[in-house]
Amino acid sequence: MTDIIQKNLDYKKYVVDSNLQYFKPHATQIEKTFAEEISSSLNRNSKFISPKFFYDKNGSELFEKICSTSEYYPTRTEISILKQLKNELPPFLDDDFRLVELGSGSSVKTRLLLDILTSQKNIEYLPIDISEILAESSEQLLRDYDNLTITGIIDTYEGGLEFLKTYDKKKNLIIFLGSSYGNFSPIDGYKFLEKVYSAMKPGDLFLIGLDLVKEKEILESAYDDSQKVTAKFNLNVLSRINDELDADFDLNNFLHHAIYNEKDQRIEMYLKSIHDQSVIISKSNLELKLKKDELIHTEYSHKYRLSEIHDLLDDAGFELKHTWLDEKKHFSLSLVTKI
Ligand SMILES: C[S@@+](CC[C@H](N)C(=O)[O-])C[C@H]1O[C@@H](n2cnc3c(N)ncnc32)[C@H](O)[C@@H]1O
Repeated sequence: MTDIIQKNLDYKKYVVDSNLQYFKPHATQIEKTFAEEISSSLNRNSKFISPKFFYDKNGSELFEKICSTSEYYPTRTEISILKQLKNELPPFLDDDFRLVELGSGSSVKTRLLLDILTSQKNIEYLPIDISEILAESSEQLLRDYDNLTITGIIDTYEGGLEFLKTYDKKKNLIIFLGSSYGNFSPIDGYKFLEKVYSAMKPGDLFLIGLDLVKEKEILESAYDDSQKVTAKFNLNVLSRINDELDADFDLNNFLHHAIYNEKDQRIEMYLKSIHDQSVIISKSNLELKLKKDELIHTEYSHKYRLSEIHDLLDDAGFELKHTWLDEKKHFSLSLVTKI
């Protein structure tokens, strides 16, 4: 079955051993998509770079460092809520479930879910992540869990959800943590939830972590930490374009810029051009001209009110099972199902 799906989606299959296999688009396809998307997103008046391009090896490592800065409350707060689930999730698990994770990254939080599923004889884990970090994280998990088998998809969320759609009849618990959903614009977020919904079978569960509206100072320092790790993470996307698309960005000519837009309830992250400059991106066939103070948008991180979360899940057709919060009400985890 996986071979048919792999062929239809044009993935290359890598079998590491009997417990670990992963699927990935062909390297030429990955480079082509990157070059084309950069060409179109930088060749316009309001320039942007999709946040999915942050995560080359260096970007994924920098994200891990962000998670351990004192200012970045989302990771430790979400972990504190996941710990509550140890006793509170099992009543919702009426069968054996495969754990599917969108944007699995280092799979650190995953362990708290795997610990809940250990009563199952065998645990299947299907991580989906655009970053190569997936292979490394999977091997680490296999060292620590005996009864685990992993099928990883190194691709976009959308590619992974297509893969899942026709996979098999086993129930899936899909998790999407870290408030990564907040990177989508409201319209793209709605389309994404529709894709999750259509990849689910009745009785499947979806657990989504979303960051809540809070004081501007807490939010802005979380995205502009004093050690400047987030600044390095933001600038790293330019190094990646230099390396992979033969470009000549000089990182000294850009500044990290993060602000909280209260009206739209979102952190907006940009790279600001320090002066007039022009940059060649050979593989995108582009000469990029930037004016002094011009901004390249790199990330949104939307924040939500509880009622908005319930409305958006309801609008996408899900049935809400439960929402968990931390003590300070800084972060939320909602569990929904498809009926
Ligand atoms: C903000 S990190 C969150 C990691 C982890 N889930 C957590 O909560 O700490 C986002 C993760 O999603 C992956 N990612 C970002 N955009 C993606 C996309 N469009 N498709 C697939 N993976 C993506 C990144 O490689 C990264 O590992």
